[in-house]
Amino acid sequence: MKPIEEYVVSIPDFPEKGIIFRDITGILQDAEGLHLAIDLMEEKLAGLDFDVIVGPEARGFIFAMPLAYNLHKSLAAVRKKGKLPRETISVKYDLEYGTAEVEMHKDAVKPGQKVVIVDDLMATGGTLEAIVKMVEELGGEVVKIVCLMELAGLNGREKLDGYDVDAVISYPGK
Ligand code: PRP
Ligand code: MG
Repeated sequence: MKPIEEYVVSIPDFPEKGIIFRDITGILQDAEGLHLAIDLMEEKLAGLDFDVIVGPEARGFIFAMPLAYNLHKSLAAVRKKGKLPRETISVKYDLEYGTAEVEMHKDAVKPGQKVVIVDDLMATGGTLEAIVKMVEELGGEVVKIVCLMELAGLNGREKLDGYDVDAVISYPGK
């Protein structure tokens, strides 16, 4: 079986000069790659006691959902501003390029719940930091953060000091 790294397509200078875009569609377009990605992320959660998976749209949903289903956990959605119909909390943050604002329903995480956050990629760590803030504001406890990929050169882990952060693939650069 091919290693997971070989399914990721790296595109230099997209969407801006100097950024190497790590494209997950190469994984998703291959049945073996897709299975392998979910299995490797699931291994990171082996034996962990938790209640709910929190995942952000859009690419985070792709990985958060099968993990929630396989592990029989609920899924709490993080969405971009303006998409959720009920009462929300929100956080503004900086992206690797540009700014963003994400939201969660106020009842998406219950006080005292143990939360695993799942996303496709940790770049600057801004998205995950924003999600941690919302989860904690709702009274949840972040017990683990799992990403398929991390760009270690952007030092996202510094924003998440003290949290258990794990990535299946770690790229040394940006
Ligand atoms: C991308 C990626 C991560 C985030 C990582 O999402 O899917 O969620 O950026 O960057 P950071 O660590 O610097 O915050 P993006 O907001 O581009 O949108 P998408 O998932 O909807 O494609
Ligand atoms: Mg995303």
